[in-house]
Amino acid sequence: MGAVHLLEHPLIQHKLTYMRNKNTGTKEFRALVQEVAMLMAYEITRDLPLAETSVETPVARARTRVIAGKTLALVPVLRAGLGMVDGILNLIPNAKVGHVGLYRDPETLQPVEYYCKLPLHLEERDVIVVDPMLATGGSASAAITAVRQRGATAVKLMCLVAAPEGVQRVQRDHPQVDIYVAAIDEGLNDHGYIVPGLGDAGDRLFGTR
Ligand code: PRP
Ligand code: URA
Repeated sequence: MGAVHLLEHPLIQHKLTYMRNKNTGTKEFRALVQEVAMLMAYEITRDLPLAETSVETPVARARTRVIAGKTLALVPVLRAGLGMVDGILNLIPNAKVGHVGLYRDPETLQPVEYYCKLPLHLEERDVIVVDPMLATGGSASAAITAVRQRGATAVKLMCLVAAPEGVQRVQRDHPQVDIYVAAIDEGLNDHGYIVPGLGDAGDRLFGTR
């Protein structure tokens, strides 16, 4: 079973409070998503392997370390996942970025894939699927399936707010995937929205509706 990492750093929790507030407008919401994504990226990359190297400092040669292996692949789920990309790239500027386009059918709540473009050599990369909301878990599960079908083996999921139902769905469908979240809320309402959640992340990020 994949582990669930609840990221309770005070800065993350503080910013999440402002994101939840219905009076927070698009500009501020967008900035907060990026800031929280950057802070979460710091936590999610804690276990990246390092390789020994050395550099010449102005004083002497230093034995030191760099991140080993191929650069990470970030895979935002369109469209709301896009809002997290720049924040993560602030910390990991060399990451490759793939895209999985999914929307949730409002009637059935089932994810519908409409786009998929991923970096090469996925099997050699640490892949981080990012989406602010993990509600029923259908979209995240489908996005993880999409990257695994194209060769990814080391996959993590980063979300801002999750419902317990979504966490359970991903754990059931993808038991080898660790989940990183800033909050696990009470549950879902009749429309599949997370309660209390923060509303429709895509609409709040892009100012639609
Ligand atoms: C939202 C969100 C997730 C999905 C979560 O996207 O960004 O992708 O819903 O719901 P689930 O866990 O029940 O699948 P939405 O379908 O609203 O599309 P959008 O990002 O284009 O707004
Ligand atoms: N998608 C969202 O954007 N918000 C929710 O609460 C659930 C799905």
